[in-house]
Amino acid sequence: MSLILGIESSCDETAAALVASDRQILAHCLAGQESAHGPYGGVVPEIAARAHVEILPALIEQALAEAGLGLRDVDAIAATAGPGLVGGVMVGLVAAKGLALAAGKPLVAVNHLEGHALSPMLSDPGLAFPYLLLLVSGGHCQLLLVEGLGRYRRLATTIDDAAGEAFDKTAKLLGLGFPGGPAVERSAQGGDAAAVPLPRPLLGSPEPHFSFAGLKSAVLRARESGRYATQDIAASFQQAVVDSLVDRTRRALERVPEATALVVAGGVAANSSVRSALTALASARGLPFIAPPLWLCTDNAAMIAWAGGLRFDAGLTDPLDTPARARWPLDPEAEKVRGAGVKA
Ligand code: KG4
Ligand code: ZN
Repeated sequence: MSLILGIESSCDETAAALVASDRQILAHCLAGQESAHGPYGGVVPEIAARAHVEILPALIEQALAEAGLGLRDVDAIAATAGPGLVGGVMVGLVAAKGLALAAGKPLVAVNHLEGHALSPMLSDPGLAFPYLLLLVSGGHCQLLLVEGLGRYRRLATTIDDAAGEAFDKTAKLLGLGFPGGPAVERSAQGGDAAAVPLPRPLLGSPEPHFSFAGLKSAVLRARESGRYATQDIAASFQQAVVDSLVDRTRRALERVPEATALVVAGGVAANSSVRSALTALASARGLPFIAPPLWLCTDNAAMIAWAGGLRFDAGLTDPLDTPARARWPLDPEAEKVRGAGVKA
């Protein structure tokens, strides 16, 4: 059995975790940075990187202390090596390299997207390859067929904004605060989802790609018209996102009859309208719907330790000169789409 220290710092969460290959999570520590970025209405890369530097060493110590372990007890040190905000990625990766060197342990450089893609296996031992993963967060919006460790087929990506980014921008337009997703969801609870006519970008198009930039512009026009209540715009926006996520995921499912389950991960999976619409879609197709617990859906280090452990157990470790990467597609063979790659 292997025990892995995982480190995550690719966006605005600093995290450290200890996870064993039998799925035991011995510790997971996380520090968010909402209050630092809140005044700017979005993540500021330099502020994020500096915050990681300040918090990470104490978080790693805290994780080891919670587990009652020392560095000598771990088998390998895994860190996110990309994709993400490269200043932040460097902070976590350099810390991991330093610890690996000092403790004489191997380094495992983990693709953050692989962390998300494999995290459902940490919470659901029965989940079997291949499964269709809808990864929807502030930085990512992709449909991936997860075929095995290191084997991912990207069926779709966003041609402009990620879904979580659309929530964040809409919240900013509506003056609802940051992070936007939970704020929009709260506001939408009191609103009428049919009140504001909004587009469903790419609905029905044959390729299952996503687009949210046009929707965001329509929200801006609705806001500026002065004709609609904030909660009605929030509810109508949320419904438009749900409709396009469901339509695109349905399209992808048609292409992968071999999928054993529909799985969702990423911060937008916290949205209860999104969850219930996807539950209905999966059950209509006779598939189990799997959503890891929320803390595991959003950025965290347990998913990095878990993916790192699977790689370590497969004999995959990395040299100490492994670079931090702003971009690192999971499926390098995936066809390029307009604007894709910008969001990882
Ligand atoms: O996975 P995550 O923590 O970080 C990355 O972006 O990788 O996802 C954060 C994103 C943000 O855009 C946030 O607005 C969105 O997830 N989000 C939500 C909700 N909670 C978080 N979006 C819609 N509804 C929510 N309840
Ligand atoms: Zn993420």
